[in-house]
Amino acid sequence: MRPRRFRPTGALKGTIRVPGDKSISHRSIMLGALAVGETRVTGLLEGEDVLATAAAMRAMGAQVERTGEGAWSVHGVGVGSLLQPQAPLDMGNSGTSTRLLMGIVASHPITATFIGDASLSARPMGRVIDPLSQMGASFEASEGANGSQTLPLTMRGALPAVPIEYRLPVASAQVKSAVLLAGLNTPGITTVIEPVPTRDHSERMLRGFGADLWVEDSRGGRVIRIRGEADLKPQVIEVPGDPSSAAFFIVAALLVPGSEVLIQNVGLNPTRAGIVTVLRQMGGSIEELNPREVGGEPVADLLVRHSELTGITVDPAVAPSMIDEFPVLFVAAALAQGTTVTTGLEELRVKESDRLSAMAAALTAAGARVTETEDGLTITGTGGERLAGTSGPIATHLDHRIAMAMAIAGLASAGGVELDDTRPVATSFPVFEALLDGLAR
Ligand code: S3P
Repeated sequence: MRPRRFRPTGALKGTIRVPGDKSISHRSIMLGALAVGETRVTGLLEGEDVLATAAAMRAMGAQVERTGEGAWSVHGVGVGSLLQPQAPLDMGNSGTSTRLLMGIVASHPITATFIGDASLSARPMGRVIDPLSQMGASFEASEGANGSQTLPLTMRGALPAVPIEYRLPVASAQVKSAVLLAGLNTPGITTVIEPVPTRDHSERMLRGFGADLWVEDSRGGRVIRIRGEADLKPQVIEVPGDPSSAAFFIVAALLVPGSEVLIQNVGLNPTRAGIVTVLRQMGGSIEELNPREVGGEPVADLLVRHSELTGITVDPAVAPSMIDEFPVLFVAAALAQGTTVTTGLEELRVKESDRLSAMAAALTAAGARVTETEDGLTITGTGGERLAGTSGPIATHLDHRIAMAMAIAGLASAGGVELDDTRPVATSFPVFEALLDGLAR
């Protein structure tokens, strides 16, 4: 454990650059490993989650090497040619690594065992086991709470796998991506229908690597089809900055009086940018400068100024486009004027922690007024007054986003907020504390 108290700060001023997008970093290593030849990646997020993906692709035969800061070279083996790993694949804390790799393994003649930390081992895997079983893969999973299927699990891929048409029962980019990745080595057309759009990085990048993938919008939702067996061509990829990492600094600058922070290199893919929309609805001053395209994704620099925020009722339809940003949105709500109501967030209960109960407990301990409901939080803000802060440490539950959200609450508190453990931050944002300490002098 590495505890730390995040203390109140004066105005945040300066320019920072956020590290590479976690979702895109995972996918660039996975697809690079499935293309024949060398894929070069710059701006890769070198967090523990992405390193778990790199180690797993190495264990299955790809050459994955770091050539400089954020610069990586992947020599892929080709779709269908991954090797049997000799040891269990350790996924650490990373649900994305686990679920997407399960998709890849599902259509290879490979037996693989997936293990992870206590947080990951409590998360439901039935959501990918169901469609991948329909494609022919077989699974032996552990049994978690309420009969859920969890890690450790061992799976055997199918050759050939069977193409399916699968309608997502939960809005999940991980489940969508698992099925599409399984479809890469499945003869015929694999179809995923998503009633609600989720992040589309897999679709964009699969097309970029030359897969035959097409999308139609129908009344029942987005229909995504991929034709296997695919030949992927190696690519040169520049990973844009992660909007989910930027979100902590956006909220910090909005909350701390006198702040003005320029956050460079923020990915603003519409399937990810919900937090910017919602914070603007609350009155946040967030200006987009220098809009451009990086790695096939829209990017801009964001100039954020301290603002007086007002509570709102958040439209549950925006949830998928800001699914990882609710912990920090709850912090913003705790200092807004009036009440913020969120609903439709049952998915937050199966993230790295139960983020509704973890944030309700942490914010309450810091002096906020929070009511937890089955599918959301209702928070009545202070109207800009600092939160009292915590006396003892709050529990971060091996969840990087709980830790970072509450660190920001600490800056906007009177007495500071103490975290039981800052180590989980390294899964997605190893330089978080350094950037924060640089601004909050
Ligand atoms: C991710 C999808 C989301 C998100 C996670 C990354 C991805 O999960 O919470 O941090 O890269 O596909 P779900 O698909 O389970 O919502």
